[in-house]
Amino acid sequence: MPDSVNPAIDTTEEDALIALARQVMPAGGFGNVSHTVIVARGRECRVWDVAGREYVDYLLGSGPMIVGHAHPEVLAVTQACVAEGTTFFANNPYGIRLAAEIVDAMPAVEQVRFVSSGSEADMYAMRLMRAFAGKDKILKFEGGYHGMSDYGLISTTPKRASNFPEGVADSAGIPRSVQQEMLVAPYNDLATVAALIKEHRHELAGIIVEPFQRLIPPEPGFLEGLRQLAMENDIVLCFDEVVTGFRFAYGGAQAYYGVTPDICTMGKAIGGGFPLAAIGGRADIMAHFDKAAVGEDRFMTQIGTLSGNPVAAAAGLKTLEILKRPGGYKHMFAQGQALIDGYKASMQKHGVAAQIVGDAPMFDIVFNQNKVRDYRSCMGDPALAAKYNAGMRKRGILKSESKHYMALAHTDADIEQTLRAFDATMAEL
Ligand SMILES: Cc1ncc(COP(=O)(O)O)c(C=O)c1O
Repeated sequence: MPDSVNPAIDTTEEDALIALARQVMPAGGFGNVSHTVIVARGRECRVWDVAGREYVDYLLGSGPMIVGHAHPEVLAVTQACVAEGTTFFANNPYGIRLAAEIVDAMPAVEQVRFVSSGSEADMYAMRLMRAFAGKDKILKFEGGYHGMSDYGLISTTPKRASNFPEGVADSAGIPRSVQQEMLVAPYNDLATVAALIKEHRHELAGIIVEPFQRLIPPEPGFLEGLRQLAMENDIVLCFDEVVTGFRFAYGGAQAYYGVTPDICTMGKAIGGGFPLAAIGGRADIMAHFDKAAVGEDRFMTQIGTLSGNPVAAAAGLKTLEILKRPGGYKHMFAQGQALIDGYKASMQKHGVAAQIVGDAPMFDIVFNQNKVRDYRSCMGDPALAAKYNAGMRKRGILKSESKHYMALAHTDADIEQTLRAFDATMAEL
């Protein structure tokens, strides 16, 4: 473990900290991953918990740490920034340069509006589509995650199968009226999308889609088909690139798959580990954030205390600079592919009835043998998945319950250790 301002504690103190968390926070934590892991620090692609246990990290803060934890260049610029004041609620040079870099990189983006989280970005993107189109309904895909807003949480992890296009609210507290404003289709099913557009064209403002939905790649022609249908029917197309932006390629999934939406959302990588996200897109659509451009009635009001925060923008800008260097994506894809190939070989060796779903920068094991193309076909055996995740954690591999995120900083030693842990876990399963 690196030297730290936060030295390791013993397991009794660790248990006390877990108990304190249970007492002062509902469900004992922040609501994210298991509350029994308390992470103290990270460096490159390793993290250490408060008791000093070391993990190879594929959680990566749920994606932002794509150049690795505590990257010295990101640290240097953010530490210098912090010393000059941490937030101003006014334009700052880092935020302006970050917006310019995003415009340069992402094919769909002519202008950018910063917010603090991907949830916020998606909520505003849906509102922006409604403001631009002057219509109320949004089409989304079952299993697609677009943040925690009332609209975002329709049919993201539905517990019952609805009849498309009816959506299911994934959370208590979502008004029924919101449910009625969302149309839900199966991912990779252009025929259903076309039929829904035909029926609802007069009230449909836009389509929001993860171009690579959780672990599920788009089938050839799916994104192109959405692009075509949206264009022919005057519907706005939004790619949620909170995960895929600057990860699948420097220009995001829109560059990787060669399909340009009208608007998109971004988060995670662009904040370099700090709270920052964005909506970007065509200037005539983004104009709704500008009262002088669209007038009082069509103006979309939007402010946020920490939007475009200078420390976050500086971290994001440096992260993008590092990502842009030659060889970075090639290395990250090669490391991801090495894990995928090794996992497949190990599953075959142990006769595990499962499959790897995803692509090199983001993938996981799914415990079923379906042809995976949408939410329902991607649902695996939850008991086996829980055993697998526990087995990996026990062997020093930290990941989310449902995916591996790859980073520039994953080394050959990380990959070898992970393959050994996976093989031992498969043997146990
Ligand atoms: C595709 C997608 N959109 C939106 C979000 C929400 O982002 P945030 O957690 O920053 O609110 C996430 C978060 O994982 C995401 O994966």
